[in-house]
Amino acid sequence: MQINKVCCFGAGYVGGPTMAVMASKCPKQTFVVYDINEQQINKWNNKQYPVYEKNLDEYINQTLDNNLIFTCDIDIALKDCDIAFLAVNTPSKKYGLGAESSLDISYIDSCLQEIKKYPLTKKLILVEKSTVPIKTCDYINAVLKDKNICVLSNPEFLAEGTAIQDLLNPDRVIIGGAIEYAQQLASLYEQWVPKEKIIFTNIYSAELSKIVANSFLAQRVSSINSISIICDKIGADVNEISQCVGSDSRIGNKFLKTSVGFGGSCLKKDLLCLIYLCESLQLDEVAQYWRQVYLLNEFQKQRFYNLIITSMFNSLRNKIIVILGVTFKANTNDTRESASLMIIQKLQEEQAILRIYDPQGKIDKLEQYQNLDGIFQGASAIVILTEWEEFTKIDYAQAYDQMAKPSYCFDGRNLLQGDIMKSLGFLYYGLGRI
Ligand code: UDX
Ligand code: UDX
Ligand code: ADP
Repeated sequence: MQINKVCCFGAGYVGGPTMAVMASKCPKQTFVVYDINEQQINKWNNKQYPVYEKNLDEYINQTLDNNLIFTCDIDIALKDCDIAFLAVNTPSKKYGLGAESSLDISYIDSCLQEIKKYPLTKKLILVEKSTVPIKTCDYINAVLKDKNICVLSNPEFLAEGTAIQDLLNPDRVIIGGAIEYAQQLASLYEQWVPKEKIIFTNIYSAELSKIVANSFLAQRVSSINSISIICDKIGADVNEISQCVGSDSRIGNKFLKTSVGFGGSCLKKDLLCLIYLCESLQLDEVAQYWRQVYLLNEFQKQRFYNLIITSMFNSLRNKIIVILGVTFKANTNDTRESASLMIIQKLQEEQAILRIYDPQGKIDKLEQYQNLDGIFQGASAIVILTEWEEFTKIDYAQAYDQMAKPSYCFDGRNLLQGDIMKSLGFLYYGLGRI
């Protein structure tokens, strides 16, 4: 079967950039991105992207209205379609059994209902792109049992801020499911991804590999964060440990930066999904193992705000605290599950006066500074929560002169050089460093 037309349910963080890059690399195929949210579709069509990704513009400009279409019309999406990606949101379930840990697939469900109603004229390859609970493929097959479909799992691994790069040069493309159809999907990727990077697996392995990958990333951050706590107690330096341990090629040096805690929409969600899976399989020891990764992350956030509060003699009331960074990492505007949310809330409970600045991110209902002008004047403490490069370029000597004394700096990303900050007069606290 020749693939001519591809559609994608969901024009969000995943669907938009993925289809834009695919369309540019597969000029012979047509790509239709469908969404129920008209505003979302209008944004893409007017090039006011709902997501901030470097170089996204270039790929949209090349393809929009050539072989890339954004629409709210299901007929435009499904008519004569060969492959349909499911890239709708699958948040943590907020209610009932598995609340806060299992994934809510009601948006997937609504896509299935649309497909069920639609008179398909040929076989449709249905591809799970969003993270889904394990065995969702069985559920899809059951719901659409009278339709001429085949389900594949092809999880996305793009990270925010580097989405385009990750799509252009993926470490791997995983395709799970019947090989005959998996190869058809692979024929799209093969137009720009080297063949050896495309891995064919059974469908459950593909579904599971996504939540395992994100859980391993979470585990690495929690592992190094747990070591930062030991370092604080014994006077070792966690940055040095990361370097020493990470240079073992079996371990590798990525994802070993200690921090105030991992955030973002995926790591926690997928980790909790894995824990829920273990629990539902009655694998208590395995569930506990992974739960500890989650708990350590919560503990790291707690430890950080406790450090701030106790170092300042439990007296933050009416003191000015400058918060640098609200996004869950640098180079994104996303604040979902950011450690800043909990830390800001705790400092507010202490009745501190917060001056908050982030180059891109905005937390709902919170007043923020637009730039750094005057932000340090009279402040007692600087709290760094995101590793924006801009924060390394601040003139901290000047900031120190403007601040109330004693002047504290709590560096939740080990972004600054502690000895320099101390020599300026700051009471400087990093993580796992003296
Ligand atoms: C280890 C360290 O690798 C080495 O750097 C250190 O100096 C001494 O301890 P060793 O004990 O010889 O070396 O064995 P290693 O190859 O690390 O394997 C340890 C155990 O892990 C073995 O039982 C091995 O079978 C098991 N293992 C290793 C796995 O089960 N799975 C793996 O993927 C790798
Ligand atoms: C992640 C996965 O990386 C990506 O493959 C998947 O498709 C979606 O989830 P993302 O959520 O964009 O991507 O962020 P990521 O870069 O993985 O960072 C997650 C969190 O871990 C951030 O809060 C980051 O600051 C933190 N982190 C990361 C550390 O604290 N230390 C590190 O060494 C690395
Ligand atoms: P993700 O990070 O998984 O891409 P987003 O929330 O950024 O998630 O985007 C998901 C998109 O899916 C939203 O724009 C939402 O309107 C859309 N969506 C939800 N349900 C459906 C549906 N049944 N059909 C089409 N689009 C849908």
